[in-house]
Amino acid sequence: MTIETVGVIGAGQMGNGIAHVMALAGYRVLLTDVSQDALDAALVTIRGNLDRQVSRGKVSQEDCDAALERITTTLTLSDLGASDLVIEAATERETVKQAIFEDLIPHLKPDTILTSNTSSISITRLASRTDRPEKFMGFHFMNPVPVMQLVELIRGIATDQATFEACQEVVAKLGKTSASAEDFPAFIVNRILMPMINEAVYTLYEGVGSVKSIDESMKLGANHPMGPLELADFIGLDTCLAIMNVLHDGLADTKYRPCPLLTKYVEAGWLGRKAGRGFYDYR
Ligand code: CAA
Repeated sequence: MTIETVGVIGAGQMGNGIAHVMALAGYRVLLTDVSQDALDAALVTIRGNLDRQVSRGKVSQEDCDAALERITTTLTLSDLGASDLVIEAATERETVKQAIFEDLIPHLKPDTILTSNTSSISITRLASRTDRPEKFMGFHFMNPVPVMQLVELIRGIATDQATFEACQEVVAKLGKTSASAEDFPAFIVNRILMPMINEAVYTLYEGVGSVKSIDESMKLGANHPMGPLELADFIGLDTCLAIMNVLHDGLADTKYRPCPLLTKYVEAGWLGRKAGRGFYDYR
C-alpha cells in the first residue's frame, strides 16, 4: 500500500513535531486535536521551527512553504478517514488512546495502518482493542522530533511484516533511522533512559549531589547533551513517572520503583518545563 496521507492525532509537543517532519518529507498531513487553541499553537510552532531550519540553510524556502501547505488541521477526528497511516500522539493515558481508536476506526479505510507514538504502553494490548491488530504497531519518535534521528518501531504480537516494512519505509523517507523493538514495557530507549533519570532523582533525594552538580557531572563526565534532571524537566516529570510505573508494574522488579521525590514533584504539579517549574524554575 502506498502511503501518501498521514493522520496525526494530538497537536502537542510530539504531534506538532511529527506533523512537521512528515510534511517536510512530502506527506500530506491531517493534524487533529480536541482544542482549536492547540491546533493554532502547533501551526505557530511548526512555522517557527521550519523558519529556523530555513535561516540555518537546512531547508529551502520553497520546501518550507510546500510543507506548510501540506498540513491541514481539523477538530473532527473522522476527517482522518482519508489517511493511509495514522499516528496517535495524544495524552499518554491508555483509556484516552482506546477511546480515540474506538471513535476513529469506523471512519478508516480497511488498509490503513494504525500506530501509536506511546512511549511505554503495551502495543499488543492497544492493538487487541482495535479491528486491525495485524495493521497496528508502535511508531515512537524522540523529543524534539525535528532534531532527533531515531524512531523506535514496535511490533505487537500480531503485527504483520508488510505493516512493519511500510513503517520502516516511512522512517527512511523522513531521513531518520529506525530501531526495531519487541513489545515489552517501555521498549528500548525508555527502558534504559528512565531508570537513569530515576536514579538521578534518587541521587538528589539522598543528598549525594545538588541539581546543578548532578547535571554537570553527567554533561561533562559522560558527555550527555543535557543533564538527567534537565532532561526530565524537558520530557515532563509526569511522563517520566508514568513510564517508571509501567516498568515497575510490567516487570515486577523493585529496581524500577519510582523515586518518592519524583512522585512528590508530580503531585505538586511541578511537571517540568511545560509547567514552569520542575527541578529548575522556568518562571
Ligand atoms: N524543536 C525543534 N528544533 C529544535 C528544538 C525543538 N524543541 N530544540 C532545539 N532544536 C534545534 C535547534 O534549532 C538546533 O538546530 P540547528 O542544528 O539546525 O542549529 C539544534 O536543535 C540544536 O539546538 P541548540 O543549538 O539550540 O541547542 P543544543 O545544542 O543544546 O541542543 C537538544 C538541544 C537537541 C535538545 C539537545 O540538548 C539534546 O539532544 N538533548 C537531549 C534530548 C533527548 O535526549 N531527547 C530524547 C528524550 S527521550 C524521548 O523523547 C523518549 C520518550 O518517550 C520520553
